[in-house]
Amino acid sequence: MPDAIRWENNQLHLLDQTLLPREVVYVHCRTHEIVCDAIRRLAVRGAPAIGVAAAYGLVVGAMEQGTDASRWTREHLERVRADLAATRPTAVNLFWALERMWKTLEWHWGERDLLERLAAEACAIHEEDIAMNRRMGGFGAALLNDGDGVLTHCNAGALATGGYGTALGVIRAAVEQGKRIHVYADETRPLLQGARLTAYELAADNIPVTLICDGMAASLMRRGEVKAVIVGSDRTVANGDVANKIGTYGVAVLAKHHGIPFYVALPSSTIDLSLKNGDQIPIEERRPEEVRGYKDCQWAADVPVWNPAFDVTPHELVSALITEKGVIRPPYDVNIPRALRG
Ligand code: MRU
Repeated sequence: MPDAIRWENNQLHLLDQTLLPREVVYVHCRTHEIVCDAIRRLAVRGAPAIGVAAAYGLVVGAMEQGTDASRWTREHLERVRADLAATRPTAVNLFWALERMWKTLEWHWGERDLLERLAAEACAIHEEDIAMNRRMGGFGAALLNDGDGVLTHCNAGALATGGYGTALGVIRAAVEQGKRIHVYADETRPLLQGARLTAYELAADNIPVTLICDGMAASLMRRGEVKAVIVGSDRTVANGDVANKIGTYGVAVLAKHHGIPFYVALPSSTIDLSLKNGDQIPIEERRPEEVRGYKDCQWAADVPVWNPAFDVTPHELVSALITEKGVIRPPYDVNIPRALRG
């Protein structure tokens, strides 16, 4: 499996996920504008991966002024930060990572080794994300039983993170423990992250996967094939409401109807306690062409389109949040802050 994000010799290379699974091509990000473009067009995507890419993006942007930090201007760096922050609004990891990078910049402003410090912070964000995924995998795997069929929506795997994955990390960990897990992957219209990325990732790891169209999940559940649903998140707020890929809410409603547990796997960098409930989460709306067709192929007439990239699943439908701090159960308004403190 190719890495989604590579940082080598102070250079950023992002796997262009829009070309998967047919082609493995890396975008060499020589400028922060290239990083912004990669985030906007989903060459790099998935909340934790967007955060990691933005952290490296700030380093790339800083280096546009040369490697001697004494020549850097604040104005340029503020523009780089603003450009990166304006790429996608929903995944809070983007803002979390930029804030962390900015603190490093503030603390060490004027120091000769500022570039090394920024690069080290971005690498730390990257490595910590993988470590968090492995920890949450350990906690989450305990919720799955040998022989389970598990449904997932979108791609919350190694490609969506620094590595290993959140929802797919839980599944990977269960498989590593010797449990036989069969994954059902929603194709995830309109941009097909499930069909193109989740199916590819799991097949590469020899984890059994069956691809279904989004509209098939209900019938699959009715047949008793799904024992648990696990998804990732782009932003989870104080009351436990979860923003994730459009269609997640529908899957949660279906899971409730069929008495199937609905789990959300996420690192603490995806939790935004500054927002009280999911109505406050900014939801990205994308181009109508993404719904009228795919890439160069248009199959719908030029009718109006509504294309929100994410939806909000109310906390009542969430059986548990799986984090690197442990498994958090309701009431979330009490137990999320408690878990984050602990
Ligand atoms: O539009 P995308 O592909 O960035 O959306 C990704 C998702 O919705 C993921 O489920 C979420 O970011 C969690 S990834 C660990």
